[in-house]
Amino acid sequence: MFPVHRPRRLRNHPQLRRMVRENIVSVNDLIYPLFAVPGESVANEVKSMPGVYQLSVDKIVAEAKEVYDLGIPAIILFGIPDNKDTEATGAWHDCGIVQKATTAVKEAVPDLLVIVDTCLCEYTAHGHCGYLQVGDLTGRVLNDPTLELLKKTAVSQVKAGADVIAPSGMMDGFVRAIRLGLDQAGFESIPILSYAAKYASSYYGPFRDAADSAPQFGDRRTYQMDSANSREALKEIQLDIREGADMLMVKPALAYMDIIWQVKEATNLPVAAYNVSGEYSMIKAAALNGWIDEQKVVMETMTSFKRAGTDLILTYHAKDVARWLQ
Ligand code: PBG
Ligand code: ZN
Repeated sequence: MFPVHRPRRLRNHPQLRRMVRENIVSVNDLIYPLFAVPGESVANEVKSMPGVYQLSVDKIVAEAKEVYDLGIPAIILFGIPDNKDTEATGAWHDCGIVQKATTAVKEAVPDLLVIVDTCLCEYTAHGHCGYLQVGDLTGRVLNDPTLELLKKTAVSQVKAGADVIAPSGMMDGFVRAIRLGLDQAGFESIPILSYAAKYASSYYGPFRDAADSAPQFGDRRTYQMDSANSREALKEIQLDIREGADMLMVKPALAYMDIIWQVKEATNLPVAAYNVSGEYSMIKAAALNGWIDEQKVVMETMTSFKRAGTDLILTYHAKDVARWLQ
């Protein structure tokens, strides 16, 4: 007890602080999200996400090179198709926008890891993550028929060159279905990063502008989790592990640090946190107003993810973080 113990002794010298630091952010932890759109030389800035763009394939390739040169190991690709329909054709078609972007990136920057988000909401006319019953206006996605589409989508993404599949639709059994589909197609070595505990969150608002994937009616609360629940997250995670997930994701991140911590404690799989669009937009807005120091706030946020137990961080700040770490 005081005065024998004085914790400040270890804080006085900057080198000592560095030596006793428990968690550090590394460029190795980062995954940078990118949005692919049809066309050429297209770079539409997303209004609610300054510094984030919808990019045509040529621009995605240029961006992938920059990301790789910064030492960031991986990107995660989302696609915005020309046409949306009830079958989510753009998701599983071999000439889909994400398939094209994946192939182009793997050709130009073969050493960059390409993770592909496997969901249908960017490709369905109604914006839900799977099939709906005809006439349904609530968004109660039909689970089992949707699994077939997800399987088909993942196989097509891997055929295009995807290194890792990241299913994000929160359908029951989606990891198992995709694992089976990949194995049947001879892709047993492709890992699955499951969006295992994904909450129905208002923090996804800006992403839905970026990906043009807002549900046209209803909401996602019949498939994504209720933000009031944490034990349920552990149930979701255990199921995904048994179904064959190789890595687990918690999403969103900032308001769900307790979930990240519990997931890390409960498993021995790598844990990823998705620092989602709304979290990015809030920091950007405050920084652009001169209300906060962007670099310091972002680095503190990233460090906090590590402290909570995160191994991998999906973040729109990734390029800045990589630069700041240099
Ligand atoms: C698609 C998907 C979403 C995000 C990632 N994949 C949005 C949603 O569920 O509506 C959100 C990412 C972000 O907000 O940055 N299922
Ligand atoms: Zn979705």
